[in-house]
Amino acid sequence: MEEEIKRLKVKLDSAMLGGGEDKIAKQHQKGKLSARERINLLLDEKSFEEIGGLVTHRTKDFGMEDQKFYGDGVITGYGTIDGRLIYIFAQDFTVFGGSLSETHAEKICKIMDLAMKTGAPIIGLNDSGGARIQEGVRSLGGYADIFYRNVQASGVIPQISAIMGPCAGGAVYSPAITDFTIMVEGSSYMFVTGPNVVATVTNEQVSAEQLGGASAHSTKSGVTHLTAQNDLDCILKIKKLLSYLPQNCEEKTIVMPYEIEEEYREELANILPDASNKPYDMKEIIYGITDRDTFMEVHEKYADNIIVGFARLAGRSIGIIANQPFSLAGVLDVDCSKKASRFVRTCDCFNIPMLVLVDVPGFLPGTDQEWNGIILNGAKLLYAFSEATVPRISVIIRKAYGGAYDVMNSKHIGADFNFAWPTAEIAVMGAKGASEIIFKKEIAQSHDPIVKLKEKENEYAALFANPYSAADRGFIDEIIVPKDTRRKLIKAFSALEHKVVNSPRKKHGNIPL
Ligand code: HXC
Repeated sequence: MEEEIKRLKVKLDSAMLGGGEDKIAKQHQKGKLSARERINLLLDEKSFEEIGGLVTHRTKDFGMEDQKFYGDGVITGYGTIDGRLIYIFAQDFTVFGGSLSETHAEKICKIMDLAMKTGAPIIGLNDSGGARIQEGVRSLGGYADIFYRNVQASGVIPQISAIMGPCAGGAVYSPAITDFTIMVEGSSYMFVTGPNVVATVTNEQVSAEQLGGASAHSTKSGVTHLTAQNDLDCILKIKKLLSYLPQNCEEKTIVMPYEIEEEYREELANILPDASNKPYDMKEIIYGITDRDTFMEVHEKYADNIIVGFARLAGRSIGIIANQPFSLAGVLDVDCSKKASRFVRTCDCFNIPMLVLVDVPGFLPGTDQEWNGIILNGAKLLYAFSEATVPRISVIIRKAYGGAYDVMNSKHIGADFNFAWPTAEIAVMGAKGASEIIFKKEIAQSHDPIVKLKEKENEYAALFANPYSAADRGFIDEIIVPKDTRRKLIKAFSALEHKVVNSPRKKHGNIPL
């Protein structure tokens, strides 16, 4: 990473100035790059072609006629990243605080239309004070024109929003509709209403950073998928993210060169603790299965009882959804259901096969969960998996209990291959809870209820706390040993490469949002 940053810094020399040297110097003092510098760093050398560089605003009010800057606060165009075509806009904070005028919006819409017509990803580098105050409703209309296009492009081309400065008011809704949001720590923030309005309306005293900084949105709201330490880090993350995505929904992801070799991974045999109620880090299993150093986690700090992210398996891009026993024992709750269902749909619309690693004790009980809609949110995940037509493989590592067994990409909801490790436990509920219910009378009538409960618990566990009855019914296709998991998955995904599903004709489904 250090080397890459050094290499990219050299490119800064060729960066052109935007709204004036003083203002760019001010950006630099805040640790921010200028819009043109950002584009130059992100795109392949000399690949950027600017469109609309001579556009200026049309406002006559408030003395604006005398204040015109070429480009009107946004640089738009196209170029390549690692040789692949992309369209890009970068808001220029040095021109009216990057605020969005009618013409500024028209420029963004123009390249969004081109990206759609040509089936190429669109990247927005946001750094803006919001609607151009001098333009009133014309700028509000401009935002709506962008939102409309974001929605039309959703699921057609990848849309990535980097938040590299302020992003306030309705301006937040374009990034929120796009597929990925990346926020720069310390210099970016997103909120619908800023700290002053918050103080007036709710009497809360809060700073911009606390209210809508990268930390708030990566841990509390889940609005941002990724955070970056600075502008350069943000640019590297955009590049990496793009490498896992196809150009559009009709294409597959790029395949990195890979020669199949001896694919056993001995380390996978030593990750699970002896006791099945002890936690472990599911990421160790992800690292063990995937190509070395390819796992890119998304939403890392939000709802960390489920892990989602991209990786490569024998050079091919896959999406991973995995319960995390390290956090809340990997239980499904409201937030993690929302997080995972969004990711499942992202993978599905961009032809990215999914690997699901299961170790889930069930849904989280309680009034907090019920009143916050665990029913609707759990249903989202169930819906998202059931609807997905990309290759889908599950490996049950340990627990798969109750409704969560069904939800986590079970055979019944359309998974293509379902594997289990010998340590898998697949049942309606844990042995203790189950025995307390179904042997209630027998236990109560016994002369030693504690011993009886233990005896019944063991009986139940022997019968159900294993993968064999599921395999007997064909719900599990094969029980595999940990060290062989990677080899099995490479073969299984390869067998699914040309999967085709013809879903019933409909306008669109009605996911319980
Ligand atoms: C016009 C703006 C502007 C805006 C900033 N500027 N925001 N010009 N319209 N929305 C100009 C400033 O006048 C200043 O011009 C320059 O940009 C830099 O701004 P500063 O305030 O000096 O910078 P800074 O201190 O870094 O503060 C940045 C800021 C602040 C936090 C973004 O400027 C700010 O609060 N702006 C207003 C934010 C806002 O309320 N926007 C409207 C949101 S509502 P000079 O000439 O002095 O350099 C909205 C509705 C959208 O967006 C609805 C869509 C559905």
